[in-house]
This record gives sequence, structure tokens and C-alpha cells, in this order.
Amino acid sequence: MKTLIRRWILLYALAFFLVFGFYQLASWDSSLRPARKPSPLSGRITQPVKWKKIPLRYPVSSMIALPSGTPVAIPKIQHDFGIETQGNEEERERRLAAVKQTFLHSWEGYKKHAWLQDEVTPVSGGYKNDFGGRAATLVDTLDTLWIMGLDKEFALALAALKKIDFTTTEVATLNVFETTIRYLGGLLSAYDLSEGKYSILLRKATELGDMLYTAFDTPNRLPITRWNWENGALSGEQEAPSQALSAELGSLSLEFTRLSQITGDPKYFDAVQRISNQFEKSQNDTSIPGLWPVRINPQRESFNLDRTFTFGGMSDSLYEYFPKQHMLLGGLVSQYRRLYIGAIEAAKKHLFFRPLNPGNQDILLSGTVKKNAVNFLSLQPEGQHLACFTGGMVGIAAKIFDRPDDLDVARKLVDGCVWAYESMPTGIMPESFSVVPCPDPDDCAWSRERWYDGVMDGQQRRWVETADEKAAHAQKIIEEDKLAPGFTGITDRRFLLRPEAIESVFILYRITGDTTLQDKAWRMFEAVTQHTNTSIANSAIADVTTPDPERLDSCESFWMAETLKYFYLVFAEPDVVSLDEFVFNTEAHPLRRPQR
Ligand SMILES: *[C@@H]1O[C@H](CO)[C@@H](O)[C@H](O)[C@H]1NC(C)=O
Ligand SMILES: *[C@@H]1O[C@H](CO)[C@@H](O)[C@H](O)[C@H]1NC(C)=O
Repeated sequence: MKTLIRRWILLYALAFFLVFGFYQLASWDSSLRPARKPSPLSGRITQPVKWKKIPLRYPVSSMIALPSGTPVAIPKIQHDFGIETQGNEEERERRLAAVKQTFLHSWEGYKKHAWLQDEVTPVSGGYKNDFGGRAATLVDTLDTLWIMGLDKEFALALAALKKIDFTTTEVATLNVFETTIRYLGGLLSAYDLSEGKYSILLRKATELGDMLYTAFDTPNRLPITRWNWENGALSGEQEAPSQALSAELGSLSLEFTRLSQITGDPKYFDAVQRISNQFEKSQNDTSIPGLWPVRINPQRESFNLDRTFTFGGMSDSLYEYFPKQHMLLGGLVSQYRRLYIGAIEAAKKHLFFRPLNPGNQDILLSGTVKKNAVNFLSLQPEGQHLACFTGGMVGIAAKIFDRPDDLDVARKLVDGCVWAYESMPTGIMPESFSVVPCPDPDDCAWSRERWYDGVMDGQQRRWVETADEKAAHAQKIIEEDKLAPGFTGITDRRFLLRPEAIESVFILYRITGDTTLQDKAWRMFEAVTQHTNTSIANSAIADVTTPDPERLDSCESFWMAETLKYFYLVFAEPDVVSLDEFVFNTEAHPLRRPQR
């Protein structure tokens, strides 16, 4: 009898855990998505908050200091540009002026229709506030105005900044990552570029930095990535989340470090250095040693929960920040080199692959690897626009860590994204797509049969299809889905005005001086402006595979902060924001590197 009861108890316990486990899994995804409709504020806070005055719940026992000493010698990134020919200069200046003109069109649209709001809606001429309602586009664009020499506009934006309160926000749940990279990065970068001339920039950055710092006030000092800031302000209990995206935890380091460097207050650096230490501790213990999965558990400090590994969305800038933090710290902390090398070696083995393509170009894409139920790793041969930053990252790291072979890898990654742009009828790469991977990069000769096989992979197939039937079947799918040669599916046909591809083209141009990269950049620019322009600004589009795509009425702040900045810089003279003097955060905000 006793054993029977025990068995029942066990069964009930098992059932409970099963149901609970499924519930956890089901709630996992949705809880991480940015709230489309930000939840309403409780309205308990109506005044600016004095964040510095709020007593810490969990003060650190000892502060991690910024590294001291003379920065070590870091190899030069930029090519030694000689004197350019007159013909080249004229063409470059013409292109530069065209980028500036497009920028001014979008900027005027924002000023007229959405001034002090987060974003302009470029079709309807209204505005959107998805980033806290603190003039995201204005703050994000300050440094672009400066770089383009638009002094009057810069002064106008600076004057408006006074009216923005960075100690509170319109949304109940603050996205700490987005706020850090767009707002804090934007303010610090404008401060650095203008050489500290405008103290309001530092005042506002500190105001915001102190608000964000409270998100780190948890038992293990790891931050709350989606943060109930009112609870934070009212001294409520708080702890690190049980689920977070690895990029959201791993890409705060540059901005917080720079804030410590400028203010001399080490607490911001201390906050992010603790995160890097956690990443290092877990680097070799994940399913793919060297890499971390997309989702992690900061509360339990468990960084090996999830089975998806990628340099694409949700993980991307975690990796991007390792070489960049190395530079910002003047090479004085060896940890970031170790983190990067562990990651890049694993990525070269598992993530990067050569796609079958009709020109037999020797190119690379960075895909996604999943560990399945029986612990096999399988490559999803996809390309993501978000992953196109990889070429630039690998290029910079190849220089600063003296890994010359990786420069080849960087160039192939850049060419992979350019190939995806040039394959589409609009000349613009889609948000995501799939292709045929060549398991052996030396065996990648184009044939239509291989492409058809790739297209039919994962398709519901009739049992006994002859070769001819199979080809006809594949051709039908290709026609219906408007697949360019080499593509086996387009999982998201939109283009959201994203910067990652031009970012990497720009970086590789500055590293190599190869002017064919400027020509590629120009073709990308012409395609993008032609298909995204509206009478108000520029818009995300619904489908890059149709010649006249629908405009989606969205213009995120990164269009002027990043995409147009990189298009401008690839045609500017190479000493305009030199990569040897500045390090760009993941929102394209240049921060000043320490000089020897
Ligand atoms: C992880 O492995 C690499 C390569 O074997 C090694 O250099 C590194 O020190 C290891 N990291 C940790 C934290 O053990
Ligand atoms: C977009 O640009 C093209 C070419 O410059 C122009 O003909 C067209 O009118 C523009 N579309 C809008 C909506 O402004």
C-alpha cells in the first residue's frame, strides 16, 4: 500500500512538472519579445527621479576599477590611403553629396512630422513612440548631424535636448539594451565627437546612465534586461531575470565603460565588467564551446539553457563587443581577446559556410546552428541581414589581434551579403532567407540540380518522383516563391532600412582601400533609396523580390543613426572618424579610443 501511494505521489509530481515545464516553455518566447504595445504606466511617478539618491539594495563589496596605465600598442586598422586621383575624388564627392541629400530629406520629414517623438511614420506623416518616448531619432541622430557638418541642425537638436527628461519614460517596461545603445551611445558619441564642448551631452548621458545603473541593483548584480523602472525607483525588490537574450546582456559594455572613462566614476564599468566575467566563466561549458546560446538565465547564472547558436539576431552584438571593448580599454584587459578568439574559432567551424551560387563566387554566410533532441548539431543554412555585421567584426579583429588569415574570411563574409543584395530584383537583401550550403567549400560548383535538390529539401515530396518530375516540382516552387538562383526560400521578404551590410562594406573599405567596395556601396545606396523613398522620408518595405515594393510606414531611428552614416562614411575621406581613433558601438555611435 505504501509503495502504491508513493507511486501515485511520484506520478502526480511528474505530471505537475511536465505541465509546468510546458508552461515555462510556452511562456519563454512571448515574454522575450519586445512589447508591441508598451504596457501602461502605473502613473505613480510624475516627477523626474533623482536616481543617484535612491539607496542601493545590493551594493557591491568591492568596486572593479578601470584598468590603469598606458594603453598598449594595438595594430593599425585603416589602410594607408595615398593621394587620390582627381577622377576618383569627383565621383566620391558626388556620391557623398547624394547621401547627404537623402539624409536631409529624412531629417526634414522627422522635424516636420515627428519632432521630439521617437520616430516619424514615413507614409502617413505621423509619429510612433516605441522606444520610451524620449525623441529616439533626435538623440540617435545627433552624431550624424555632427559628422555631416550640419552645424545649424546640430545646434537645434542640442537645444531641444534640454526639454527631454531622461530620468523617466513613457513605457512601464524599459528595454535596457535598446536604451543603452541608442540613447546612451548617441549622447556619448556626440560628446566625444564635439570634444566635450557641450556639457549638456554629458549631463544627459549621466542622468540616463544613473537610471540604467539601477537596473543592475540585483542580488547577483546582473541587470534586468526588460526593466520595471518604476518599481526600481520606488525601491521595490528586484532580481535578474530568469530569461534574457545573450545580446541584450552582452552589449552594454562599451557605453558603460565610456561613461566611466569620461566621468571618472568607476561604477558603470564595474557593472558591465561583472557581465563579461560571467560570459568568460561559461564560455567553454556550452553545447558549442566558444559560443553562447541565444537565450540565457542571468538569475541562476546559467548560460547553457538553450539550443540555438548564431551571430544573427538576439546574439549578434554580444560577439561584436569583444574586440571593440578590447580597443576601448586600450588593450589593457586580455580577457576580451580570449573571449573573441574562443568565439571566432567556434564560428569558423560551425556557423560560417559557403553557399552554392551561380557565379561560383567564393563567399561566406554566417548561419544558425541548432542542437536537436539527440544532441546533434545541425546547420540551418540561412542568411540574416542582422548577421551581416560579421564581416566588419572579423575584419577589425583580424587587424587588432594580428590574425591576417581572418582578413580573407572577413572579405568573403562581406561579399556574401553583397551577393544577397545583388541577387534580388530590387538590389536589396531580404531580412532572412535560406540557401544551399556546400559542406566542402572546395566542392561548390554551381549546378541547377544541386539548387533544385536544395529547394526540395524539407518539401513534402511525392514518394516516387522521377528526376524530371522533381525538377518540374522545384521549378514550380522557384517561380511561385520568386527565388533567385541559389536561394531555396525567403523566410522574411522585408527590408527594414537596416545598416549591417553597408557597415561591413565600410569597414572593409577602410581596412583595404579597395575602391570596388565603394562601387558596391553605391549600387546598394541607389537600390535602397529608389525603393524606400516616400514624400516624407524613407520607409521599410514589404518585399524586396517585387520591383515596386509596398512601403511599410516605418522608419526606425537607425536609418539616420546608422545606415546613412555608414553610407556617408564610405564616401567620406578616410580620416573622417578614423577606425584608429574611434570605436563604433552597435548603433554606429563612434566613441573615442584612448591614445598612447
Ligand atoms: C576556454 O578554452 C580555451 C581554449 O582551450 C582556453 O584558452 C581558455 O582559457 C578557456 N577558458 C576558460 C575560462 O577556461
Ligand atoms: C522616389 O524617387 C523616385 C526617383 O527619384 C521618384 O520618381 C519618385 O517620385 C519618388 N517617390 C516618392 C514617393 O517620393
